[in-house]
Amino acid sequence: MDVIERFIAQHKAVKERLDILEKITKMIDSDTSIWDNVHKMSGFFDKEVKEHFHLEEEVLFPIIRRKLPSDKQKILTEIEAEHKPILKKLDEFKEMSAKHKKLSSRISRENFIKISMDIIESMITHANKEDEKLFPIAKEFLDFENYKELEQLYFKYLNI
Ligand SMILES: [Fe+2]
Ligand SMILES: [Fe+2]
Repeated sequence: MDVIERFIAQHKAVKERLDILEKITKMIDSDTSIWDNVHKMSGFFDKEVKEHFHLEEEVLFPIIRRKLPSDKQKILTEIEAEHKPILKKLDEFKEMSAKHKKLSSRISRENFIKISMDIIESMITHANKEDEKLFPIAKEFLDFENYKELEQLYFKYLNI
């Protein structure tokens, strides 16, 4: 599996988790104990998703940026700019799930469902855009040496 395929595999994992989140948010109104799962989900976002974004920003995107011709740079700039608002939503999600233990009013549940669905939608749209629009172009322009460099930086970043 090359490094780009690893990112695609991580997207797949996120999409699978998000299916679970979608079920959880639908169940929230009927089952209060489900909030424990929400805390787990927040932990998943915090660790896996943030790390994925950082890896893209620190390792993958700089190499792609170097290799893409100028007329193809726009999609990378656009995709990279999507990380910030998603990270902001993840922080709100975290705050909200942390607060929940004290605050379980109907209004906080409604807010929670709204923000969860919003996260699901924006993350899936973002991952699909990378899979369908960015990575195919990147594969076209990266050569063997770039892949080698990418792999070294990737594992160095993860301390493996
Ligand atoms: Fe991304
Ligand atoms: Fe990604």
